[in-house]
Amino acid sequence: MTGSDQIGPLRTSRTVSHRARTMAGRGEVPGPAPFPMTSPRSGWTRPVISPLMGHIAVVGVGYVGLTTGACLAKLGHTVVCGDVDEARVANLSKGEVPIVEAGLDQLVRDGLRSGNLRFVVGAATAAEGAEFIYLCVPTPQGEDGSADLSYIESAAREISSVLEEGAIVVNKSTVPVGSAKVVERVLGRPDVSVVSNPEFLREGSAVHDFLHPDRIVVGADDPNAASRVAALYLGVPAPFIVTDPASAETIKYAANAFLAAKISFVNAIAAVCEAVGADVTDVVLGIGSDKRIGHDFLRPGPGWGGSCFPKDTRALVRIAEDAGYDFDLLRGVISVNSQQHARVVDKIRDAAGGSLDGVVVGVWGLTFKARTDDLRDSPSLAIIEALRREGAVVQGYDPTVERELDGIQLCVDPYEACAGARVLAVLTEWDDFRWIDPEHVGELMSARQVVDARNLLERPAWQRAGFTYQGIGR
Ligand code: UDX
Ligand code: UDX
Repeated sequence: MTGSDQIGPLRTSRTVSHRARTMAGRGEVPGPAPFPMTSPRSGWTRPVISPLMGHIAVVGVGYVGLTTGACLAKLGHTVVCGDVDEARVANLSKGEVPIVEAGLDQLVRDGLRSGNLRFVVGAATAAEGAEFIYLCVPTPQGEDGSADLSYIESAAREISSVLEEGAIVVNKSTVPVGSAKVVERVLGRPDVSVVSNPEFLREGSAVHDFLHPDRIVVGADDPNAASRVAALYLGVPAPFIVTDPASAETIKYAANAFLAAKISFVNAIAAVCEAVGADVTDVVLGIGSDKRIGHDFLRPGPGWGGSCFPKDTRALVRIAEDAGYDFDLLRGVISVNSQQHARVVDKIRDAAGGSLDGVVVGVWGLTFKARTDDLRDSPSLAIIEALRREGAVVQGYDPTVERELDGIQLCVDPYEACAGARVLAVLTEWDDFRWIDPEHVGELMSARQVVDARNLLERPAWQRAGFTYQGIGR
């Protein structure tokens, strides 16, 4: 929370005072919340100010934790972020942000300057004296597809003995249904509440998504704990959905699975378009204009990737299976995604004349999407791996990737990636690629073949420059 000099007098008149405090810095007039606070749960009323006066601890400062910590500091709270990675903590303490995320550098520097944001080594150091402890450690995919909870469990074990009475542990990481109970058990602290508050942040726009969410979901068995967590977000214009922990945890998986399904659906429609001679761009415009469908997440591409969709869809299949339901639909969504990687490889092979053995392929884009430096489960890397298995030589370029990657000749610019290449493959939708002169690219390549797996390039311009152009679904 903000400095105790401000908190003392304001705490006496609960919610309104808190709104006054969070909005004061921005010159807004406190008033009724503009959005409804939906509660399917009985007993939950509205956000309340906590009886305690501690800070917020964030455990794990990766893509999710760092954004969460910096944004909570921006909202006026005092935040202490703890991480096991000493070098990361030292750099962050100097304002050096280790990831590419729009607006995050500025927020971290502002937080350090104002004193609202600090970085320390270790979960327990951060959690000592904290009122809220956000767990933002990874939940990687286990060997059987289920989510591996070992980092969550070890963080919970580490903080257990230092927690204040009445503190609230908040699960921000994507965790299987029932994990709130697991954390409760590991903590072994009946005087501490565990609340689920899933994140819906997209990398590349995570700061914006945090400060302008579509909704804030809080899952808790204790209505008072739910209200205290909700109060942290007063001033953020979004409806609250307050529910039980299992429902909150399911919302996160269901949202990711639904979005992945939307993309797999459009990728399957793209395949149909290619077979029947339709143009997926027009088809998407036509279906997306139906408000019930909407335009978002209908961009065909090389398949979805990243740190969430691949592992969360598999985990949800597993969660359902363990509960006795065969989630065949979601298996199909995952399978269409793998086929999509393979379809892009087929297009590149066709462009190369039927074989990839010894063929130089220039690749634009390595990250799983644009505006991030994240390579986790990137479709681009899966496709490159398949190209290499067939003997292709891959020259890759990405604006955010500098470190060497196995089996890829990393280039300093998009032109170098095309030098001597027989095929150019556009695998990530970086805007910069859109404006590159196809004539110049053609002069560098040994053949004028382009596979645009993001439908990013201006097709007529590339065709005018003599390229054989293959997009997705058109
Ligand atoms: C997150 C989530 O929390 C995960 O559940 C979600 O599905 C994807 O996003 P993310 O922030 O992307 O993870 O992970 P990452 O960028 O790898 O950062 C994790 C941080 O936690 C790292 O800085 C790591 O050093 C730290 N960490 C890890 C700890 O502090 N303690 C641990 O025990 C493990
Ligand atoms: C996702 C969810 O959107 C977010 O709510 C959750 O908290 C974390 O997982 P993120 O993985 O950062 O966010 O990226 P997102 O924008 O959802 O894209 C995921 C993948 O789908 C990327 O590979 C992207 O290129 C692909 N995608 C997205 C498409 O192929 N087409 C689309 O229309 C949208």
